[in-house]
Amino acid sequence: MSQKFVHINGTLVPYEQATAPLYDHSLLYGDGAFEGIRSYNGKVFKLDEHLDRMYYSAKALAIDLPVTQDVMRNSLLELCRVNDHQNGYIRLTITRGTFLGLDPKHSNGPANVYISTEQLTLYPQAMYDNGLTMITVSTRVPPTFVSDPRIKCTGKYTNNIQAKMEANRAGVGEGVMLNLEGYVMECTGDNIFIVKNGVIRTPPPSTCGLVGITRTTVIQVARAAGIQVDEALLTPYDIYTADECFLTGTGAEVIPAVVLDGRSIGTGKPGPVTGRVIGLFRQHTRETGVAF
Ligand SMILES: Cc1ncc(COP(=O)(O)O)c(C=O)c1O
Repeated sequence: MSQKFVHINGTLVPYEQATAPLYDHSLLYGDGAFEGIRSYNGKVFKLDEHLDRMYYSAKALAIDLPVTQDVMRNSLLELCRVNDHQNGYIRLTITRGTFLGLDPKHSNGPANVYISTEQLTLYPQAMYDNGLTMITVSTRVPPTFVSDPRIKCTGKYTNNIQAKMEANRAGVGEGVMLNLEGYVMECTGDNIFIVKNGVIRTPPPSTCGLVGITRTTVIQVARAAGIQVDEALLTPYDIYTADECFLTGTGAEVIPAVVLDGRSIGTGKPGPVTGRVIGLFRQHTRETGVAF
């Protein structure tokens, strides 16, 4: 059982009794940030990288967190322990606090911190076996002067949800999101990679949307295994004409993508480099992590 307790503002609360306040600023205005994290075999994967990103998101949003990174780390590990969350998903959400009205001057209490554990399946197994089909969606990733994609802000996900609904309406598994200039950024909840002539390519941090922790991990393990990985601007053309394509994310892990906008990518089947990357990534999840 993965969810006996949740952590709310430093207190373990039985799952059935866990509630969020009506005037939570993220509920009212999307004014918060979150991290999706995974545990594998009793260890939390890339925990400190996720906590760093969470604290950077809070800093960028000027949300003053009531606990240090160490205290939050201990709360998260404690929750995994009491829930015996050996393998699964961990959601860490922070919000500006509980108050009505936009103006943070009206806040008279601390930011809220919620931590929960779940079992999450982002895509059906058939999509891992056969590869995802995708379309390029019309919903664009907002430019940095509207919302910096490096901030994992709760509110910005309304845009990603619209993009996901476009993909759903088209009957495909994912939507490729472009920036205003037409370059490929990311999918609705994943980063994107292509393989061309044995070389892996992915958009650079400045145009990859969220700088995914799985993305960074995949780049590291692939390079360590001697596979060349280049960061380069991509357009849909690069995906249409690639040999292989795959997506990465904490929820999805590494998943092949085989069709974009009705064009088969390579053979239209998951390719050998993607298969190798999946193996390297899985091996890495077994070798690293913070035990709880
Ligand atoms: C929009 C978006 N891009 C990319 C990612 C992948 O990031 P990560 O590998 O850190 O989970 C996610 C998932 O968190 C996401 O929501």
